Amino acid sequence: MISTQDWTKSEIDSVMEVAMELKRARAMGKPHAYLQDKVLAMLFFFSSTRTRSSFEAGIAQLGGHGAFIDSTTTQISHGDTAKEIGEIYGRYYDGIAIRQCDWGVGNQYTSDVAAASRVPVLNMQCEVYHPFQILADLLTIIEQKGDPRGKTIAVSYAYASSYQKPLSVPQSLILLMTRYGMNVRLVRPPEFKLMPDIVQQAQDNAKQHGGTLEIMDDMDAGFKDADVVYPKSWGCWLTTEDETESVEIGKKYSDWIADERRMALAKPDAIYMHCLPADRNIEVTDGVIDGPNSVVYDEAENRLHVQKAVMALTMN
Ligand code: CP
Repeated sequence: MISTQDWTKSEIDSVMEVAMELKRARAMGKPHAYLQDKVLAMLFFFSSTRTRSSFEAGIAQLGGHGAFIDSTTTQISHGDTAKEIGEIYGRYYDGIAIRQCDWGVGNQYTSDVAAASRVPVLNMQCEVYHPFQILADLLTIIEQKGDPRGKTIAVSYAYASSYQKPLSVPQSLILLMTRYGMNVRLVRPPEFKLMPDIVQQAQDNAKQHGGTLEIMDDMDAGFKDADVVYPKSWGCWLTTEDETESVEIGKKYSDWIADERRMALAKPDAIYMHCLPADRNIEVTDGVIDGPNSVVYDEAENRLHVQKAVMALTMN
């Protein structure tokens, strides 16, 4: 699972069904040790709150073990190649999960490990895709809104000052939600474009599955009558890779914030989503993220259930 595009729609439907079953089993206290004695390598090149914890808790709840590996504690910087990691970890472990988000590096690295590995490789986020976040988002939308078909989601840029974030969340969102027949609005300033081939794939998905993909540059218009709003920051990577320049460009859009005025433009029962972490009161107001329309904690919880589903379906 490097991208949800690697899986058929029916396989992703199965992930949703199994995730709901596992969520119910956990709530009922029913054992579900489908991966007894299996071990997942969790190789991190970048920090994490949710991803590490939900994978580690998830594999333990399935009866297996998660081996947390900080890349700086390995010999990777001394020469171990992606092929060697795939070959060698593939012989020790039953699955290899990787987070490598460096621009122009992470996706290739993860793919190279997968090509050399005899066991499943799970992408815990690269610079292009964040598949497990978006599977959790889909489960949350289904729980909150029922059938996603015909519902409108605003995948919007929002300003943040912390750092130039990857494109992986908005790109994975437009790819998957168009496969579920949603009317997807991609809302961003001109400097914050997504990768053209990803946008093309999302357009193809929409055509095939009865949804739409509309590209907009006005945050208010994006929120208008939306069922789901997902405003978050990402970097202007296709405009510049220079951190200082990107900060200056971002400052032009510091009014791109998810606030109460904008939430009032969406449908009254619209849900506010964010993968977290968020820059509070810069990217989103406390009133919105802590407000009645916010589902961010359910979204974070669902990481656990979808990841357990994919592990159970691939590591057996
Ligand atoms: N949403 C997400 O991937 O969170 P972490 O970066 O904390 O893992």
